[in-house]
Order: sequence, then structure tokens, then C-alpha cells
Amino acid sequence: MKMVKSMNYKDEMEKKAENIEATIRSYLPEEEGYQKTVIEAMNYSILAGGKRLRPMLLQETYRMFGGRAGLEEPFMAALEMIHTYSLVHDDLPCMDDDEYRRGRKTTHAVYGEGMAVLAGDALLNYAFETAVSAFSRIIDKQEMEKVSAALSILANKAGIFGMIGGQTADIEAEDIGSEVTEDQLLFIYGYKTAALIQSAMMIGATLAGASEEELVRIEKCAYNVGIAFQIQDDILDITSSLEVLGKQTGSDEKNHKATYVVLKGMEQSKREVKRLSEEAADILSSFENRNEFLENLIRQLITREK
Ligand code: IPE
Ligand code: IPE
Ligand code: MG
Ligand code: MG
Ligand code: MG
Repeated sequence: MKMVKSMNYKDEMEKKAENIEATIRSYLPEEEGYQKTVIEAMNYSILAGGKRLRPMLLQETYRMFGGRAGLEEPFMAALEMIHTYSLVHDDLPCMDDDEYRRGRKTTHAVYGEGMAVLAGDALLNYAFETAVSAFSRIIDKQEMEKVSAALSILANKAGIFGMIGGQTADIEAEDIGSEVTEDQLLFIYGYKTAALIQSAMMIGATLAGASEEELVRIEKCAYNVGIAFQIQDDILDITSSLEVLGKQTGSDEKNHKATYVVLKGMEQSKREVKRLSEEAADILSSFENRNEFLENLIRQLITREK
């Protein structure tokens, strides 16, 4: 019984992932003109793959609230562009100084630092151009309002009150190791990582017309997913390998990063990933409209190896 269930999940996952891949590709710019190099660098990083978790969370949350197919697609591509830009910049020598990403040399290693900075900037701008194109898909005034609200979430969760805020605190916490307080660490994780995951699920819910009260619950659920996701990322930075992860391990130790594993130890970190993820799945199952695939996805993240 259990095996049949997990096979179904796997097949479904593969099919959905293929569709997401095609959606993202359909929004990428053509590599031409005098700006060809920067466009190549953008596509190099985004086409390297990645789990596409954020677009998937966005779309599955959208489906959970009964959204009609199509309106969410520009936002899925836009969010993956923002996430990818955050990785390109995160890997720069002035930040985490990493050489591999998504199984390839990092963007700056291939195109040089200047072009990697510009490719990141370009992905961020192009993300908004892409998301704004959702207006051309609207059919009524309600959808116009939903797209406007979704744009505002996209902007907020990527900026100083979101991912950039977290990256700022992350860099400033380098070298303090176990001196970091739990509060400080939760701020860093809550913003550098959970914010874009909240963006995904909140945009999905908003576009599909979820109520304010439902949106608050989705934000909390996505917060848990995001914190668990970052703790697991820190665990894998110690226990995994370049071959499996597609990025070099030991990055946190090299940069003297304050992480949950440094603060609480490996065992408690693993327990926390499980606890937070299960709480998130429970929040989802408390909604009237259920999306079992989404609940499964969040539970599967507990044991993810990449
Ligand atoms: C990596 O995110 C950065 C973190 C927030 C930990 P992912 O693990 O989702 O990276 P990709 O998109 O699969 O490459
Ligand atoms: C990254 O955290 C969060 C971002 C906003 C990019 P990490 O620095 O731990 O992510 P990886 O391990 O390089 O993917
Ligand atoms: Mg980092
Ligand atoms: Mg990093
Ligand atoms: Mg990491």
C-alpha cells in the first residue's frame, strides 16, 4: 500500500516538475543583441536546474485554493528568477565565495564577477517584467486586484523586509559562530530563506482569491517550511557531497557562519526540521480545501538529500 502511494507521488512529482521547467523556459529572454552576454549568463544560471521548489509551492497553493490555470505562470517564472539571482549573488567572492552551484561552476566563475553582478540584477528586473505580464492574462477587475496584490508580495518578500534583509544579517553574523542567539538566527533564516517560500505560497493563495485570514495561516505554514528548509540546507552542508548536492559542502564552516547546527547540534537540528515540517503540513490539512500532493511535498522535504 505504502509503496503504491509513494510511486504515485513520484510520478506526479516528475510530471509537475516537467511542466514547471517548460513554463520557466517559456519566459526566458532570447540571447541576442549587444546585451547577449548578460542574457547568456542569466540563462546559464537559471537553466542549470535546481529543484524548482518555489514555483511548485506557488502553483500547488494556487491549485489548493482553486485558482484557474494560467494566471499563476508568470509569477512562477518570476519567483524562480528572483531566487536564482539571490544564488548568483550569494555565491560571489564578496559573499559566500562558492565555486559550484546546481552541479555547474558558479556564474562568476564562468562569466566573471562583473557579469555575474549584472546577471543577478538583470534576473531581478526581468522577474518584475515577467510578473507584470500577468496583467495581460486577466479577465476581470477581481483578477486585476489579485495580480496587484501578488506583485506587492513579490516585491516585499524579496527586499529589505524579506530575502535581502536576511542576507544582510547573515553576512553580519559571520565569525560569531555559537555566540549567535536563537533570536538572531531565526531572523536570518526567516528572512533569507523563509521569505521567498512565503512569497511562493502567499502569491499562490492571493491569486486564487484566499481570504485575509487564510493568507495569515499560509504565511505561518510557509514560515515553518522555510526555517526547516534552511536548517536542512545547513545539515547537508556538513553531511552531503558536491556530487549529490551540486554545490560544494563545508561552505558554512569556511565562512564561519552561525548556523542552527552550530548552535544546537546535529540531532536537535534534525528533530527541528521534522517538527517544523509536520506542523506546516498540519496547518495545510486544517484548511477546508486540501491539496494532498502539497502536504506530501512538505513532508518529503524532511528527508531531502539535495
Ligand atoms: C538554496 O535553495 C538556497 C537556500 C535558500 C538554502 P535551493 O536548495 O532551493 O536551491 P535550488 O533552487 O534547488 O538550486
Ligand atoms: C542562502 O543561504 C540563502 C539565499 C538567499 C541565497 P546559503 O548561503 O546557505 O545558501 P547556499 O547553501 O549557498 O545555497
Ligand atoms: Mg549565504
Ligand atoms: Mg551560500
Ligand atoms: Mg547553505
